[in-house]
Amino acid sequence: MQKLIIKGCRELGGKISISGSKNAALPILAASILANKVKIKNIPLVKDIFTMIELLNFIGLKTKLIKKKNIIEIINNEKKINTLAPYKLVKTMRAGVLVLGSLLAKYKKAKVSLPGGCAIGTRPVDLHLFALKKLGAKIRIKDGYILAEAKKGLIGANIKFPSISVGATENALLAAIKAKGKTILKNCAIEPEIKDLILFLKKLGANIKLKGRTISIKESKKINSKISHQIIFDRIELGTYMIASALLAKKGLTINKIDPKIIRSEIDILKKIGISIRQKKNSVIVKKSNKLKKINITTKPYPGFPTDLQAQLMVLLTQVNGISKIREDIFENRFMHVPELKRMGAQIEIKEKTAIIKGPTKLTGAEVMATDLRASVSLVLAGLIAENRTIINRIYHLDRGYEFLENKLKNCKAKIKRI
Ligand code: EPZ
Repeated sequence: MQKLIIKGCRELGGKISISGSKNAALPILAASILANKVKIKNIPLVKDIFTMIELLNFIGLKTKLIKKKNIIEIINNEKKINTLAPYKLVKTMRAGVLVLGSLLAKYKKAKVSLPGGCAIGTRPVDLHLFALKKLGAKIRIKDGYILAEAKKGLIGANIKFPSISVGATENALLAAIKAKGKTILKNCAIEPEIKDLILFLKKLGANIKLKGRTISIKESKKINSKISHQIIFDRIELGTYMIASALLAKKGLTINKIDPKIIRSEIDILKKIGISIRQKKNSVIVKKSNKLKKINITTKPYPGFPTDLQAQLMVLLTQVNGISKIREDIFENRFMHVPELKRMGAQIEIKEKTAIIKGPTKLTGAEVMATDLRASVSLVLAGLIAENRTIINRIYHLDRGYEFLENKLKNCKAKIKRI
């Protein structure tokens, strides 16, 4: 198993370019089932994307990934389509469940493995199935698989999600595209990644309107079979490197290929802590500041503070004077990084869903273990500021969602290597 070795450094500086968003690319790859010829640009070369491509190939689509250009071309010539998403692929990449909506919409049936849980929670899909049933799908669970069908096609419906779910919103959207009549989805997730999916579906010919948390979809008679799309930048990768800069970029670090307007809420919160952020049209310049203020934060659906930045923020708050609190309101078990950070000297206590962080504390390098994607990157941030050497095990978690992480950091003077 590969490891990362990080030597605590005194300073980061230079430029980092942000990659395409994994969480926008995954539903858009699932949506490509609905088209015939798709060209997608700014695809991040990360493990979850490769697994989703493997799933599309298994279903019967032809894919061509041009790695050096971050472009993928996908052809669905409708020959030998297998409406099955097998356990071996879905178990490692839960977003595989997103092909359910597309397969149902286009082929009126699907057999998709239940994704199962992961380190951060049980990750149920009841809200996905709730919406698909409302659209007229017959759903059965058998031997760990979701068996779904809609012999006469799906029928538009009024659906109000009992709670906000990114994946359920995406699956319902993908299914509703070909449902007869009109579908209204209420209490939807409205992350920028969902807006990117809506943009892609509109290029396909879908008639979609988003207002507040309500998405209305009219059946689209004609699907444009050939489209191209550029994936939005990864706002979580951006937030991660902004926090790294706040910790170590004494002279400022420029982060480009982004649109600061999309992460206004994250920027506002980081500014509230006292991070100096200069915004330009397609970049931000972030500087380390010594007057960071403690803060109490609760993770929320967009536009609230994202749960995917919770672990990274926690590392920053170990360096802030006073007691800060982070309440994790989205996932039931997303504090797996805390025991590892405590082994590096962090003073963090967990009370139910809240982490209480006492700062500033000096972190010292240690051998630690990654448990999930965002927890692992928080250990990288901790290693960058810790004294001596940190060894991070199980970095396959990192490779699921961060493109060229060590190269991007090395180019900013970090001492980091993979063995
Ligand atoms: C997406 O996961 C992201 N993954 C997650 O990012 C992100 O943390 C999450 O949204 C929240 O923003 C992708 O986009 C591929 P949810 P998703 O459905 O769709 C509960 C990362 O690090 N729920 O919004 O699975 C669920 O258990 C990953 O990139 C149900 O109860 O998240 C959770 O508590 C991690 N029933 C809450 O809703 C359901 O049917 C929010 O989950 C679905 C979800």
